[in-house]
Amino acid sequence: MSRRVIATDKKLDVKVLKRLIKYYLKYNKLSLFIVFVSIAIVSLISVAGSLFTRVLIDDYIIPLTKQANPDFTPLKKVLLIMASIYLVGIVFNYLYQKILIYVTHKTLKKTRDDLFAHMQTLPIKYFDTHPHGEIMSIYTNDIDTLRQVLSQTIPSLFSSTITIISVFISMLVLSVPLTFIIIFMLFIMRKAISWIGKNSSKYFKKQQSDIAKENGYIEEMMEGIKVVKVFNYEEEAINRFEKINDSLFNSSFNANKFSTLLMPIMGNLGNISYVLTAAIGGIFAIAFNSITVGTLASFLNLNKSFNMPVIQISNQFNAIIMAMAGAERVFKLLDEESETNEGDVTLVNVRKENGKLIECDECTNIWAWKHPGRNGEDRLILLKGDVRFYDVTFGYNENQTVLKNINLYAEPGQKLAFVGATGAGKTTITNLINRFYDIQEGSITYDGIDIKLINKNDLRRSLGIVLQETNLFSGTIKDNIKYANPEATDEEVIQAAKLANADGFIRHLEHGYDTVIKSDGSPLSQGQKQLLSIARAALANSPVLILDEATSSIDSRTEKIVQSGMDKLMSGRTTFVIAHRLSTIKNSNVILVLDHGEIIERGNHESLLKEKGTYYKLYTGLLEIE
Ligand SMILES: Nc1ncnc2c1ncn2[C@@H]1O[C@H](COP(=O)(O)OP(=O)(O)OP(=O)(O)O)[C@@H](O)[C@H]1O
Ligand SMILES: [Mg+2]
Repeated sequence: MSRRVIATDKKLDVKVLKRLIKYYLKYNKLSLFIVFVSIAIVSLISVAGSLFTRVLIDDYIIPLTKQANPDFTPLKKVLLIMASIYLVGIVFNYLYQKILIYVTHKTLKKTRDDLFAHMQTLPIKYFDTHPHGEIMSIYTNDIDTLRQVLSQTIPSLFSSTITIISVFISMLVLSVPLTFIIIFMLFIMRKAISWIGKNSSKYFKKQQSDIAKENGYIEEMMEGIKVVKVFNYEEEAINRFEKINDSLFNSSFNANKFSTLLMPIMGNLGNISYVLTAAIGGIFAIAFNSITVGTLASFLNLNKSFNMPVIQISNQFNAIIMAMAGAERVFKLLDEESETNEGDVTLVNVRKENGKLIECDECTNIWAWKHPGRNGEDRLILLKGDVRFYDVTFGYNENQTVLKNINLYAEPGQKLAFVGATGAGKTTITNLINRFYDIQEGSITYDGIDIKLINKNDLRRSLGIVLQETNLFSGTIKDNIKYANPEATDEEVIQAAKLANADGFIRHLEHGYDTVIKSDGSPLSQGQKQLLSIARAALANSPVLILDEATSSIDSRTEKIVQSGMDKLMSGRTTFVIAHRLSTIKNSNVILVLDHGEIIERGNHESLLKEKGTYYKLYTGLLEIE
């Protein structure tokens, strides 16, 4: 990436910088110590080289010019010493570059690891409220800015600072008047840098947001390519893209137009400074004899090695300010509050002895909630699958209520069905049972325990869920079913697929259970994807099942197959079913009709039909669900 020259109106956020450095130090203290010592050595050697010019000319070369039979041995010796010192510099340079590359990439890997691990702990709300493209760009764009800061900016700032300080002191020692010329030129350079920076910074910021916009648009169009083609939207898509792309062109052109001016301007100012020092220094040396030729030569060398780091510092300092924005986003994600998991009721395996429950390590397939008692004695409550809602009121946001005063009870083994118009709140109810969201009022109990007291991981382990959106991951069909239980044997996977009636179609695939599918589920059909997610829930083998629209994309013939599979799956389990096809929920123990977040009717199929209310109208087709 080309070197960016940016000055921003924003002040450097020291807090973020400090934190970044701390983060950077966390994993690599020793390596970084070696790196910075090496950088210091390399910088000092280069300054020493410039200073050496004076000794070389004044003490070794000029005396030689005055001798009739010059003896070159001392000169050779001193040159050899200098060459060895330079060699040491080269070795250290190579050493620190190597270590730095390793340290940088290791830090970035750690950062990505930390980000991903932390992301897994975030509540669903975070993903519901942040565009996924934005989260993605933290892993790509922002991490890349960090790479630049870690591998270039910070080391170069450090090396420049050491060089500037040592060169400045050396210059002062050599000649105070000549140092003043340099300070004067420095002042002019600063002015030039800030003028260029002011102009380019706003465009650099704009360029970054334009890149993000363009990426977002491309992603959107790729995902929606079928809709684009079906509605002949190609031309309009191209037009809209061109507009976004034009804007990116403008911002990147302007940003770079100004920033590329910097190097030539600074280079020329540097040359002017050099010529000015040479001329005035020459006058000092010849006319006033106040400095030696060697001192002047050294000074000119120092002048050269002074300008570069000055340009670099202003350059890098601005790059840091820009990069801090990236670091800030990385830290913001790392600081995002994890899902709290304060519940101390856990799920344990038990066996029954003389009618008493006894906790055991081996898998017995009998589970119990372990309730830590105050006196140190744990209470074990058999996991049965009894779910109750008491006056539950909930909204995704404070100013909007989605569910109002919901009361319901599902006794172990019962089948509860929710019906109602789209947006009525059916999925929301299931989001509350598994605690994707926490309720604002009322309470939900599971086997008599408030679900807020239950450890979330254990709560979710006790639920088999088929979500409304079937989500499959890239991998084999077997892997996908095994998401519910990675330790399951092949036999168990096949058993679960059979239960969901998915075994038939899987066997017809060329590679059977080893067929590789992509994350969008291709090459499977919509219905097949649903059968797979039902098989996944079957493998979880949990006492409570939640099936959200599990049969909506299946044709009537397959529906019968799935239905029988689901019936097998549901037998003996408490089940919450949300289905748009009323035929699939006819045999439910209780059917709850939801309307705008309220339960308006409840009962079984026959009683609701007799009531001749909303359910009756839905069933007889007098009312459309959607
Ligand atoms: N993550 C969310 N953030 C904010 N509001 C949401 C969220 N999810 C759903 N809602 C809102 O909550 C209400 C109920 O949505 P819900 O998904 O529960 O409906 P549903 O009955 O499952 O509908 P459908 O039959 O279409 O699946 C809707 O008005 C919806 O706009
Ligand atoms: Mg829904």
